[in-house]
Amino acid sequence: MDTLALEATQPKKAQNGAGPGVPGPPTPAKRKPAKKTKKAVVFFEVEILDAKTKDKLCFLDKVEPNATIGEIKSMFHKSHPQWYPARQSIRLDPKGKSLKDEDVLQHLPVGTTATFYFRDLGAQISWVTVFLTEYAGPLLIYLMFYFRVPFIYAPKYDFTTSKHWVVHLACMCHSFHYVKRLLETLFVHRFSHGTMPLRNIFKNCTYYWGFAAWMAYYINHPLYTPPIYGEQQIRLALTVFLFCQIGNFSIHIALRNLRPPGSKTRKIPYPTKNPFTWIFLLVSCPNYTYELGSWLGFTLMTQCLPVAFFTLVGFIQMTVWAKGKHRSYLKEFRDYPTLRSPILPFIL
Ligand SMILES: NC(=O)c1ccc[n+]([C@@H]2O[C@H](COP(=O)([O-])OP(=O)(O)OC[C@H]3O[C@@H](n4cnc5c(N)ncnc54)[C@H](OP(=O)(O)O)[C@@H]3O)[C@@H](O)[C@H]2O)c1
Repeated sequence: MDTLALEATQPKKAQNGAGPGVPGPPTPAKRKPAKKTKKAVVFFEVEILDAKTKDKLCFLDKVEPNATIGEIKSMFHKSHPQWYPARQSIRLDPKGKSLKDEDVLQHLPVGTTATFYFRDLGAQISWVTVFLTEYAGPLLIYLMFYFRVPFIYAPKYDFTTSKHWVVHLACMCHSFHYVKRLLETLFVHRFSHGTMPLRNIFKNCTYYWGFAAWMAYYINHPLYTPPIYGEQQIRLALTVFLFCQIGNFSIHIALRNLRPPGSKTRKIPYPTKNPFTWIFLLVSCPNYTYELGSWLGFTLMTQCLPVAFFTLVGFIQMTVWAKGKHRSYLKEFRDYPTLRSPILPFIL
């Protein structure tokens, strides 16, 4: 059985020079030096049950009270090598939330015989790999359509007139957006989770790659029609797009600066000297607000229905996440600013 190594001591009775029933103070000369009383360590017993079947999977004897869930996962891993720590979800309740790796045994609402429930999260993949795959895909797929690789459009369009300049601009903006995201993933974000279930990557890639192909097909189509209000509309759209890209980047930098390297701490984000972050006064997740703005700009620029649809779906998804993050800020921080909305100031 795996346990954490720790020296246990029992409290020793204090001794003095006088025998029982002998009144009066002890003679100092005869008194033995008092031994230091060591505090008893109450070890825990931890049993881990399968969250679905309730079968006992593991029993850990003499676990230190200050052992973390992360350490318990490592001990469990030794007896079940197929379930490495990143794919374990340890819970207090079979259907409850996963405990954090930093949670300490003695601070959890359990007795000295603690029961935890285990769920297998499935094979894991690192977040960086996930993001790189998710974002490199749209970048390359879009470019395939832009350069009109053979067999995408019918041969009858081979000799159509050259592309409208907005098509080149859209390609630059789309590529810029995903290159920015790739670079931010590598050099800016400080993620708190190391991994994600492998199966999610298929879902996420279908979403990002599929939409990129759908949008690129229409924007780069030989019969693409440029925006109805021409240059004025394109200029306005480009301004909105660039403004929101800078805003999104500024928020990512502000979030990065909240977390010291190597830590997982979460703090309340506040406006900084950078005016693009002042939106924190009104919104909990302004990076999503700016992301929405960027895609609205791109929709206006291309005047293309699949882009509008992608913007709408992204907005719904980010609203769900922003509401969740906003709720957890309110729960975690008592002094959380009350004026803030999750994603849209005063509205949503
Ligand atoms: N178009 C779309 O459909 C779409 C959808 C989603 C995202 N995106 C884009 O992808 C970007 C990243 O998305 P995301 O969902 O990962 O954003 P996020 O949850 O806001 O996180 C961005 C980074 O900041 C950290 N962070 C967030 N709040 C923090 C706090 N209070 N204290 C310290 N660190 C904090 C996060 O760490 P954790 O690892 O702890 O979360 C993460 O590393 C978005 O800003 C957006 O531009 C686009």
